[in-house]
Amino acid sequence: MSTPFITFEGIDGAGKSTQVQSLARLFRKMNRDPLVTREPGGSAGAEDIRRLLVAGDQGRWSVETEILLFTAARRDHLERSIQPALKAGRTVISDRFADSTRVYQGAARASTRRVVDRLHSLMIGREPDLTFIIDLDPAIALSRRRVPRADRFENMGLDFQKAVRTGFLALAEEFPDRCVVVNGDDSPEKVATDVSDVIGERCP
Ligand code: TMP
Repeated sequence: MSTPFITFEGIDGAGKSTQVQSLARLFRKMNRDPLVTREPGGSAGAEDIRRLLVAGDQGRWSVETEILLFTAARRDHLERSIQPALKAGRTVISDRFADSTRVYQGAARASTRRVVDRLHSLMIGREPDLTFIIDLDPAIALSRRRVPRADRFENMGLDFQKAVRTGFLALAEEFPDRCVVVNGDDSPEKVATDVSDVIGERCP
């Protein structure tokens, strides 16, 4: 795996952003210049779409419209940021990618997974090489949050986050070749060590 495309997934507050940053530092230490990016967002157009997705009432979009918006943002992110970086030989580390749509829109809210998959194969057609799923009890994630979130996804509630957690664990079983579950209840340093051990094995 010369220029890997790596993603981090998990419930809100699992500690993905911290791990994205610490993995980026690890790659920089190895004199690699990774593209550190996120979804929704990661390109100018996708950041515009992100604003549409996170602002407003919870009922602003139907699940179907959300799938279209997340996929549109992903397509722009892929075209403008991810593919050019991989082509230039840069490792890509993304905070969320298509697995989030599979879980949040495809499984957690309605039985729309088939729609997500069909749209994904039509418009995205690319999976990460390696996906870290940071697994954590949603009650712990919620208690760790110091600043309340102020967006559409903020008040989905504990039951929703529990369903999301279950969805990610099911996804890890569905894609065992690329998904690695790490325990997000450990300290950020321990999680980072677990992540770097896997990188050492898979991206020597
Ligand atoms: P973030 O907090 O990780 O930046 O993501 C914003 C919210 O968007 C988060 O609650 C998860 C949600 N989300 C989806 O529902 N579907 C998706 O495809 C993605 C990428 C994020």
